Amino acid sequence: MTNRALELLALPSPSLVLDIGCGSGLSGEILSSVPPSEGGPHTWIGMDIAASMLDIALQRDVEGDLLLADIGQGVPFRAGTFDAAISISAIQWLCNAESSDTSPQGRLSRFFNGLYASLKRGGRAVCQFYPKNEAQRTTISAAAIKAGFGAGILEDGAGTKNAKLYLVLTVGGGAIEGVVEGMEGVDVEQRSRRNGERKMREEMGVKGGRQWILKKKEQMERKGKVVKKDSKYTGRRRRVQF
Ligand SMILES: C[S@@+](CC[C@H](N)C(=O)[O-])C[C@H]1O[C@@H](n2cnc3c(N)ncnc32)[C@H](O)[C@@H]1O
Repeated sequence: MTNRALELLALPSPSLVLDIGCGSGLSGEILSSVPPSEGGPHTWIGMDIAASMLDIALQRDVEGDLLLADIGQGVPFRAGTFDAAISISAIQWLCNAESSDTSPQGRLSRFFNGLYASLKRGGRAVCQFYPKNEAQRTTISAAAIKAGFGAGILEDGAGTKNAKLYLVLTVGGGAIEGVVEGMEGVDVEQRSRRNGERKMREEMGVKGGRQWILKKKEQMERKGKVVKKDSKYTGRRRRVQF
């Protein structure tokens, strides 16, 4: 799966790669051993929530640096740090809320927003994942698109027991089909950050207008703030007074 992810990343030269949910560093070993003739070797940093997994990676003396962290809390690196990111069998865990105050949506959005920021413009990420069902697959890809990524889902071995899903993400740089090789038949969903913002503005209505005020009040209410009741005067334009 790491080799397939690397194929989809198509890194042309030695790169700095983030391994999300790196576990014991199996993918990292492959990244470190890509020969120069294939654009490697790559330098990597692994992130995982399980100290026991990172401990195994340390004992195996992997070449990458390791960070003990929960990706649902974000991706704590300086903006534009990485050329690329990979993730093997990890991101579906973001859909499991650990407590009532952590929603899968919140965790997914912190993760994808953080990942988007930590990648260079033109950077890519490939996340192989196992969604529990169609809804989870859609929730995950929608969260990536909302964060600004160009996104496509590639399915290897569709309809078989060994089917594998790869979420292929790009930061800027135009249509995803053009930048990633082997994307024939990929289910591409793409919405630029700018389009996303425009859509949000349309949904929210004109700033200061009735629609906008009602949405804002709804948001504040959801945050537990006390807001005035809506009335026929809400958002009504006042006459200019001299
Ligand atoms: C099936 S293992 C795969 C490990 C590694 N990518 C590999 O292919 O060998 C999934 C990994 O995701 C990690 N993981 C799960 N939820 C995570 C989270 N919220 N933050 C960081 N890592 C997480 C687990 O600790 C585990 O090491």
